Amino acid sequence: MALPVDTDRFARAAQGLLEDGWWVGENALDAQLVERLRSDLETLIVEDRLHRAGIGRERDYHVDRAIRSDRVFWLTRRRPVQHEFLERMEALRLALNRELFLGLFEFEAHYAHYPPGGHYKTHYDSFRGAANRIVSTVAYLTDNWQPGDGGELVIYAENNDEILATVEPRAGTFVLFMSEEIPHEVLPSHTDRTSIAGWFRLNSSIGGQIDPPR
Ligand code: OGA
Ligand code: MN
Repeated sequence: MALPVDTDRFARAAQGLLEDGWWVGENALDAQLVERLRSDLETLIVEDRLHRAGIGRERDYHVDRAIRSDRVFWLTRRRPVQHEFLERMEALRLALNRELFLGLFEFEAHYAHYPPGGHYKTHYDSFRGAANRIVSTVAYLTDNWQPGDGGELVIYAENNDEILATVEPRAGTFVLFMSEEIPHEVLPSHTDRTSIAGWFRLNSSIGGQIDPPR
C-alpha cells in the first residue's frame, strides 16, 4: 500500500478498525522494505540475537512455551531498515490519530521468529482498562508462504468462539486490530515464520515513569 502515502488505504484501515475492530491488507507493505526487513531479521537469527518471548506484564511476566514459542528482537532506530519501518509506523500513528482521535502516543515493535511447531495460543494483547496497548499491528515477512505451511493468524469474535478472519502470514500482508477487544491466536507453523508484531500505546505515565519496565 505504501503505508505512509496512500491516504485512501489509511482511511479504509481506520474505518475497518472503527467498525470491526480489525483490518487486513494484502500487499500492504512495500516489497523492497519487506525484503530488507526479512534479511535484517535473518542476520539477527544467525547471530543468535533473538530471545524467548514472555507473557504478562511486570511482576507477572514469565516465559511459557506451552502458550507461545516465538523468539523476538525489539526494534530500535539504530539499524537503518528498522528505523525506516518505525518511520512508516509513525506516519500510520499520525493518520490513526487524525482519523479516529485515538491519542496514540508511541509505538513499540519486535521481530518474531516462530520455528517449525511454533504457535501462540488465544490471547488479548492488552488487559482491559490497563490503557497501555491500544492498537496492535502485525507485518508478515515470511517468504513464499504456501497453504499448508500453517502459522495463520486467527481473529475471534469477542463474545464467542466465532472465527472472524483467518489471515495467511504472507510477506507484505499487514494487520491492524484493537488490542483490548480482539482475541487472536497463531496456529502452529510448519515452517519458519517471520513477522513484526507492534503496538501503538497511550502515554501510560506511572509515577513519572513514562514507560514502566516490562
Ligand atoms: C503477538 C501476536 C500475531 C501474529 O505477537 O502478540 O499475536 O500473527 N502475533 O504473529
Ligand atoms: Mn497478540
